[in-house]
Amino acid sequence: MRIFAFETYEEMSRHAAAVMAAEVRENPRTVLGLATGSTPLGMYAELGRMCRAGEISFRDVTTVNLDEYYGLTPDHEMSYRYFMEKNFFSLIDILPENTHLPDGTAPSPAMECQRYDRLIDSVGGIGMQLLGIGHDGHIGFNEPADQFVPGTNYVRLTEDTIRANARFFASEADVPRYALTTGIRAIMQAKKILMVVNGAAKAEILCRALFGPITPQVPASILLLHPNVTVCGEAPAMAMIREKFPTAIEK
Ligand code: F6R
Repeated sequence: MRIFAFETYEEMSRHAAAVMAAEVRENPRTVLGLATGSTPLGMYAELGRMCRAGEISFRDVTTVNLDEYYGLTPDHEMSYRYFMEKNFFSLIDILPENTHLPDGTAPSPAMECQRYDRLIDSVGGIGMQLLGIGHDGHIGFNEPADQFVPGTNYVRLTEDTIRANARFFASEADVPRYALTTGIRAIMQAKKILMVVNGAAKAEILCRALFGPITPQVPASILLLHPNVTVCGEAPAMAMIREKFPTAIEK
């Protein structure tokens, strides 16, 4: 695992964008596993800039997003499809048919989970998976639980996640209670993982995730078993790691 710390969010975003850009240049047909949330916004903007400047192309790239709220249509302003179109896909030259998210309007969540796992297999698995981390240690919408769930699954969001995500909605009551999320298997089978994290509020959970113990109560802790993880963190999010494991940080 490589852990990098940056003084500012902008520096972190630029470095993470450079890591993803290197993957796309090396493997122009790569499959990117993507995340929503506030953390990757700077990185997506930087990749958009690079694409406009002709420094990189996503023409042959395929994307599979981690998750989608259940019950929101793709044109709903709070759906993750809408988020991705607005904050990333419209900034780059990716072909719309190569972008995939779970379908939050599928009548049967169970069948949609199976379809999404087959889709990930059919594109050859994920080359680089981008992850944020929730305050409770979730990755995708894989929430703290008694077991790790391998396949794409239909989950009830925890109160913590509902509260954290309420900032994007008119009120907490508007946050959907259910979501579809890629499971731990597809994430762990990604050839490379890139995690971005900012904010002092994530310092403790990030330290628990990256230094163990490995437990489904901190879903991100499973990444300790992955052979190729790069973590890009803004300094406040790195505070506890800096204090407890200072030599683990590369920059
Ligand atoms: C979103 C996702 C979530 C977020 C996490 C952090 O697709 O998979 O796991 O990465 O909730 O969100 P932010 O970046 O908003 O703190």
